[in-house]
Amino acid sequence: LQLLLAACFSQAAELVCSQNGDLESPQLVKDGDVMLGGLFSFHNNWKEREETYTEKPLPLQCTSLNFREFQLAQAMLFAIEEINNSSDLLPGVSLGYKIYDTCGFNARSVKVALALLNDYENVSAPSKECGRPAQVQAIMGEASSSPSTAIATVIGPFFIPMISHFATCACLSDKSKYPSFLRTIPSDYYQSRALAQLVKHFGWTWVGAVRTNDDYGNSGMATFTETAQHLGICLEYSVSFFRTDPADKIQKIINTIKASTSKVIVAFLSQADMDVIIHEFSSHNLTGYQWVGTEAWIFDFQTAAGDRNHILDGAVGLSIPKAHVSGLQEFILNVEPLFSSNNDLFTEFWETLFSCEFKLSYSVEIKTRCTGQEDLTGVGNTFTDMSLMPIFNNMYKGVYAVARALHNILSCNQTCDGNAQLDPLTILQQIKEIHFKTKEGDEVYFNENGDPAAKYEIINWQRRDDGPVEFAVVGLYDASLPEDRQMDVHIESIVWAQNSLMMPVSVCSEKCPPGKRKVLQKGKPVCCYDCLHCAEGEISNSTDSVTCVRCPLESWSNENRDACIKKEAEFLSYNEIMGSLLTAASLFGTCMTVAVAVIFVTHRNTPLVRANNSELSFLLLFSLKLCFLCSL
Ligand SMILES: *[C@@H]1O[C@H](CO)[C@@H](O)[C@H](O)[C@H]1NC(C)=O
Ligand SMILES: *[C@@H]1O[C@H](CO)[C@@H](O)[C@H](O)[C@H]1NC(C)=O
Ligand SMILES: *[C@@H]1O[C@H](CO)[C@@H](O)[C@H](O)[C@H]1NC(C)=O
Ligand SMILES: *[C@@H]1O[C@H](CO)[C@@H](O)[C@H](O)[C@H]1NC(C)=O
Ligand SMILES: *[C@@H]1O[C@H](CO)[C@@H](O)[C@H](O)[C@H]1NC(C)=O
Ligand SMILES: *[C@@H]1O[C@H](CO)[C@@H](O)[C@H](O)[C@H]1NC(C)=O
Repeated sequence: LQLLLAACFSQAAELVCSQNGDLESPQLVKDGDVMLGGLFSFHNNWKEREETYTEKPLPLQCTSLNFREFQLAQAMLFAIEEINNSSDLLPGVSLGYKIYDTCGFNARSVKVALALLNDYENVSAPSKECGRPAQVQAIMGEASSSPSTAIATVIGPFFIPMISHFATCACLSDKSKYPSFLRTIPSDYYQSRALAQLVKHFGWTWVGAVRTNDDYGNSGMATFTETAQHLGICLEYSVSFFRTDPADKIQKIINTIKASTSKVIVAFLSQADMDVIIHEFSSHNLTGYQWVGTEAWIFDFQTAAGDRNHILDGAVGLSIPKAHVSGLQEFILNVEPLFSSNNDLFTEFWETLFSCEFKLSYSVEIKTRCTGQEDLTGVGNTFTDMSLMPIFNNMYKGVYAVARALHNILSCNQTCDGNAQLDPLTILQQIKEIHFKTKEGDEVYFNENGDPAAKYEIINWQRRDDGPVEFAVVGLYDASLPEDRQMDVHIESIVWAQNSLMMPVSVCSEKCPPGKRKVLQKGKPVCCYDCLHCAEGEISNSTDSVTCVRCPLESWSNENRDACIKKEAEFLSYNEIMGSLLTAASLFGTCMTVAVAVIFVTHRNTPLVRANNSELSFLLLFSLKLCFLCSL
């Protein structure tokens, strides 16, 4: 009865739309006619808490401010402001934004994504209507793959377009799972393949692999492993970790690497995890490894700045092609508007950026007081570093794609149709059909999986005389070209690990030269083998031959067993002992027979010869003579 009653009441309650859970207010907000959502992990990390399950969990406490995400948020604001200012694109329509901090935590990402759709702020009193349209027309973000999969799963059923600038996991191309996910960065489907081909190109068949234990690392490494196997590359080890893992797990990984024989490490790591690895390598004095990396860390000065012991020097990897957005750098570095916005997040940002405090607490060590007049010149940190400009460009392209789609839907021509109803599905379909060039000439379009064309630069870390690392471009990879022309690397211009000009060798066994064949070692990967000589009469004429082939009938193997040579004809010569003995015997026999024949002829009328049947005897003697001569 109680259950029934409860069911009745809950049904009655369903008719009323009311707020469940806590309010989440956006970190940054500005009103406009059309609203865009933004999801950034302004904080990298969070405080782990033991839940007691007896009281409501406290809100997540986010730690370690991430300047990169501030830059990305600035890039989004820049694009919005530029569109707002322009009279060609969306004239008379102002764009607004709502930006939330996800802390890089999946559960929080989902929560704030729902907050974006629902606009919790506005549900003050319970109302009958829950079916309000979504508050934002599109969502920009998230940077990492794992939060992106979580968000895309939640917003997919509502077809709210989500455009990510940095989530590369190939899993996100699956449109049956993530129907409204789009991105302006190529999928790892291409990057993993390209990396495997790069490793193969350098002849490294025995490599180790480290990955981040999330969707980005696991999915990327799975594709890499599969392609590597096809190309005959073996992984000596493949380990994963996450930056919040306990120290002993990371210690185990270091031990694995120390015990390994391969010299090349393929790292599918996010930038934050790369920092952890560099720190561990430094404290164990592990140098001399040749690193191969992904776009997440390979062209980031933050990684280079953390690498004080030159562990990563000579690293090669793929990066997003360089890009430039005019005006963006000045916009990002102009922090005055942030200060005047009087926002909690920006206060924290300001205090971290300039290591000062607005409200001095005298209990802790003395810090300087923030004046609000601090100057960015002289501040050399991640916030002032523009090496991630290609990613800012991705964000810029994403905002423009949404604006172009809106422009088409509102059929803007001098003025826009103010009465047009916006619905997410139409916007999503319109964005997928978009094809335009940015003011810098970059083409923007999405393929049927919502991915852009895959183009990478091949980057090499070169350091001269203890100066800063230079990210030299040593090649290109373009997945749109035919297979044999996709990769274009200039090996001569690469500086390898430990500033060496010699390409490192990383193989389990040396190549088998011609004349030998490979014999696999029991219980070891296929890249580990012994080389055995071919048997007599058999050859192998290529390196790393698996079998020896038998020479044709009239030929024979040479000394090195790497070529077939014609069999030589041999003669007995008169000068050899055997030859002269045989000749002598033959001549002696012939003479004897001739002598006997002569005697028979002279005495042919004697009874003795007659009795011997002279005709037959002559025939016999003649034949015998020929027999003796035969051997000559
Ligand atoms: C867009 O422009 C309008 C005026 O045209 C302004 O009021 C609004 O603040 C601008 N929005 C942004 C995000 O710059
Ligand atoms: C938009 O216009 C305002 C006022 O004209 C200007 O100060 C601002 O720099 C412009 N923003 C962009 C991104 O062009
Ligand atoms: C709340 O939503 C109503 C429409 O449902 C709208 O008229 C009103 O302006 C909103 N209030 C705020 C503060 O956004
Ligand atoms: C690291 O190794 C180098 C040479 O391999 C050596 O000179 C240096 O002292 C070592 N440093 C530490 C902290 O062990
Ligand atoms: C825009 O409007 C002008 C006149 O107001 C007209 O001549 C032009 O054809 C229109 N353009 C489009 C693309 O409809
Ligand atoms: C190797 O031997 C095979 C058959 O014996 C021959 O067809 C092939 O041309 C040879 N290759 C080289 C590189 O000598």
